[in-house]
Formats: sequence, C-alpha cells, structure tokens
Amino acid sequence: MNLSGNTILITGGSSGIGLEMARKFIASNNQVIITGRNKEKLDKVKNELGNVVVIQSDVSIAASISALYDQVSKAHPDLNMLINNAGVMYTINLQDHKLTPEELTKEFDINVKGTIWMNNAFLPLLKKNKNSATVTVSSGLAFVPLPISPIYCATKAALHSYTLSLRAQYKNTDVKVFELAPPATKTELISSFNEEDMKGTTLMTVESLVADFMKGLSKNKFEICPGQSSQLKFMSRFFPGFILKQLSKPVDRMHKNID
Ligand SMILES: NC(=O)c1ccc[n+]([C@@H]2O[C@H](COP(=O)([O-])OP(=O)(O)OC[C@H]3O[C@@H](n4cnc5c(N)ncnc54)[C@H](OP(=O)(O)O)[C@@H]3O)[C@@H](O)[C@H]2O)c1
Repeated sequence: MNLSGNTILITGGSSGIGLEMARKFIASNNQVIITGRNKEKLDKVKNELGNVVVIQSDVSIAASISALYDQVSKAHPDLNMLINNAGVMYTINLQDHKLTPEELTKEFDINVKGTIWMNNAFLPLLKKNKNSATVTVSSGLAFVPLPISPIYCATKAALHSYTLSLRAQYKNTDVKVFELAPPATKTELISSFNEEDMKGTTLMTVESLVADFMKGLSKNKFEICPGQSSQLKFMSRFFPGFILKQLSKPVDRMHKNID
C-alpha cells in the first residue's frame, strides 16, 4: 500500500488507536475522515488536527451507516481505505445474571456487526477505486481469550475468522484485506482494568503500535500482529492450555469480588 495520497475513513477515530492513526495519516499527506458517537470528542479532535473531516456516526446502527455512506460517497468519491477500528471492551462476569440481554451482546453489535455492516456499505465504492484496502482491527485476544472479558474476546475471534474469509472472497479484486491485531495498548479502552489483572502484560504505546501498523501496510503484510500479540498467536498454537491458564488467573479475583 502507498502510505500517502489516500482518502481514508477511520471508525472510532476520536481517541486511542484510531486517533493516532488519523494523526499519522494526516502527517503523510492523506485525506482523513473519522467517526465516533460522541460529538464533543470529535470536535476536540477537529480543533487539534484541523485538516480532518469528523462525522458523528454509530457503527452499531444501520441507518447511521447509510447516512454516513451517503455523505462520504458524495463528498469523497475517491475513498480508497476503510479502517474498521471502532470497538468497546467490557469485563463481564458470566455468573452474574443482572445484565440485560442487550448489555450482554453490545460488544457484538459494535465490534462485529459494525465491521460487517461498514464493509457491506463501503466495499462497492472501494472496489471502484484504485489502491484500495479495508482493515479489520481485531486483537491479540482473537487468538486466545482473556476470560474476564468473554464476549469481547469472542467478538475478536469472530472478526479474525470473518477477515480470513473476506480476504479469500476478495482475492479477485483490487481491494486488499488487512487485519491489525493489537496487543494491550495504552488507551481509554483498558484504562479501567485492574493492575493485578494486567500482570505480565507490557502495554504498548499507541505511537509504536501505529508505527508497526504503517510498516505492515507499506509491506502488504496482511496480518499485522505487533508486540505481545504475535506471542499470543504463537502460544495459542503451540501451548494453548498453558496460555489460557495464564490468562484465566484474573477470574479468581473476579469471583472474590462478588462472593
Ligand atoms: N487498547 C487496547 O489494548 C486494544 C487491544 C487490542 C485491540 N484493540 C482494539 O482497537 C480498537 C480501538 O480501541 P482503542 O484502544 O483505541 O479504544 P478507545 O480509545 O476507547 O477508542 C475507541 C473509539 O471507538 C469509538 N466508538 C466506540 N463505539 C463506537 C460506535 N458504536 N460507533 C462509532 N464509534 C465508536 C469511540 O468513540 P465514541 O465512544 O465517541 O463512539 C472511540 O473513538 C478497538 O476495536 C479495540 O477493540 C484495542
């Protein structure tokens, strides 16, 4: 992929990884459009970055995606890259049945349905344009779950599988299908996690994560697994029982908290 001269839509670009991607792509002479649900956060980014298009849009609402498509395809018919980055992560105790069914599957609505719906809306436009790509932001936890976040990890495993199929189905087109599987990275998403639960985890900075992502994109590396993410993938293949046991340790603390 060329890293400049693109028109790029990043979902969830108002903080964390998406925001750092926006910064780096703007600095490399790309037109960048970002989305998010919270208008104040988007306006703050607009003030900071200036040369960015911000659009309030929720990937879990089909009508919101249709409106986004209408706006982007009219104003930016040259769109050639979609980065499906918007995502949420919760700690969920599966023995605690107070959550509503909707709350229990909200991560599926945003992380999985959001990505599939966004691709469905935008892939026809990407197919028409040259040097096109769609990027799934999954997680190192796609390869082995962190059991205190069971639904989140299931969404990322689903996204990994979906992306493999998407790449196979798009092999006869000019649209490249990338997957970025970040390891634990210092953003709002994991700011509420307990230090004890993060033992043994080295937090990556958004700057080095996005640097690895850009390097992978430039080399057409379709599955980009920075830092500890590649270790999780390796361990899940060769020592699956051991790595799952390690990641299951925080479950004991979770149980203590409700007993
Ligand atoms: N940080 C990590 O350790 C880590 C590790 C592996 C994978 N990831 C993945 O990386 C991606 C970005 O996460 P992050 O760490 O940068 O988290 P973050 O700082 O919390 O950013 C998430 C972004 O997504 C937006 N968003 C959330 N729900 C949305 C929705 N329904 N529609 C549109 N936008 C939405 C948020 O804005 P609003 O709230 O205003 O909508 C925000 O801009 C996620 O897919 C996450 O699963 C993160």
